[in-house]
Amino acid sequence: MNNAVAGFSKLSKQEKIDWIANQYFSSPNEAISLLQKYWNSDEKTQKLHDEFIENTITNFYLPLGIAPNFLINGQYKTIPMAIEESSVVAAASKSAKFWATRGGFKATVLNTEKIGQVHFLYSGDASHLDLFFAQTKAKFFEDTQALTKNMQQRGGGILDIVLKDKTEALPNYYQLHATFDTKDSMGANFINSCLEQFAKTLTENAHQYELFKENDETVEVIMSILSNYVPNCIVRAEVSCPVAELEEKHITNPHEFAKRFVQAVQIAEIEPFRAVTHNKGIMNGVDAVVLATGNDFRAVEAGVHAYAARNGSYSSLSHAKIENEIFTFWLDIPLALGTVGGLTSLHPLVKFSLEMLEKPSAAELMQVVAVAGLAQNFAALRSLTTTGIQEGHMKMHLNNIINQFEATDDERALIQKHFKKHTVSHSAVVNYIQEIRTTIL
Ligand code: MEV
Repeated sequence: MNNAVAGFSKLSKQEKIDWIANQYFSSPNEAISLLQKYWNSDEKTQKLHDEFIENTITNFYLPLGIAPNFLINGQYKTIPMAIEESSVVAAASKSAKFWATRGGFKATVLNTEKIGQVHFLYSGDASHLDLFFAQTKAKFFEDTQALTKNMQQRGGGILDIVLKDKTEALPNYYQLHATFDTKDSMGANFINSCLEQFAKTLTENAHQYELFKENDETVEVIMSILSNYVPNCIVRAEVSCPVAELEEKHITNPHEFAKRFVQAVQIAEIEPFRAVTHNKGIMNGVDAVVLATGNDFRAVEAGVHAYAARNGSYSSLSHAKIENEIFTFWLDIPLALGTVGGLTSLHPLVKFSLEMLEKPSAAELMQVVAVAGLAQNFAALRSLTTTGIQEGHMKMHLNNIINQFEATDDERALIQKHFKKHTVSHSAVVNYIQEIRTTIL
């Protein structure tokens, strides 16, 4: 079958749906009604979602869950999490509850600098380019004044622009490396607009520069784009308490627990195979809040993993220590987030999430997100170093199977009692349900 289509983007939404349904589905009507089932009954809301992207055919749901009782810098927060993976919200809530009685989470924004670059080629004497840059630098700021005016009024703007010689790595390759403060916006549009203006200023002024003309030296801009690597936009989240206070139902020997926990973190610090999974657990918390608050989780993911590999080997984002009988567990993470602009004022559930977080500044949101990551990491390591994660997962799994078989309350009680003593597997549960349905009840 020929599945190619011309002019697809010009078709109406209904025409697109009809084309897909007829092209790929044995029962086109069923396919269409499935798509319709996921439409929002409110036309205005649906139109809003349609227009977020191109070629929208329906909505793709993710559950939005909440994790309450997060004590962060002395204030209780309820954290919104958009995620499809079971156990993540439960783990966050458990960690929140655990640390709320042990001083809570401390979160500190260490810096908030964003980065953008104009990548260009220059063939000529590097000292001429240095001279040109020194003479033109002020012009880059002048020419972007119309763009930076509003941001400056909010206390942000372009922090600095430096010329970088990268010719050792790639012949003729230089950069204008610019740093920005974008306050409460993520700043992608602002940064990219400034960069494109820098590129224009660079090209125009280089063209007229006598020293370049005399020596046949040329500047060729390749591209201008922000960097999602933000190693100077870091937030630290931390928990700490006397080792003895770690004791609870699953931690009967807090000293042993703390020691094993620190060792587990040290393994992730030196072993990339473990570090990736360790950090994936952190990102379970981070991405869920980033998504619920309308931020770009792909940008965050890319930047975070580059940061985790900044010393040449992929390593843990979190660290732990026991000093003078005090257990401390912390996470440093680069997060370029916004609480204004972008999707934040458009997506109704993003607005809801931000209001639930009491309309945070970007810096406050960085703190919340980092805490969600640390909480997730704590929950994972606590399970891994004590009971193992399958116990919790299997409980969820058991519940899912029970729901699938539409068990009555009596059946549910019996099944749960039975599988406290027996290993959960899909077939074991199905067999047991059949057994009680034919013999016991
Ligand atoms: C699963 O989504 C996340 C964990 O694998 C994280 C970890 O191993 O630390 C449990």
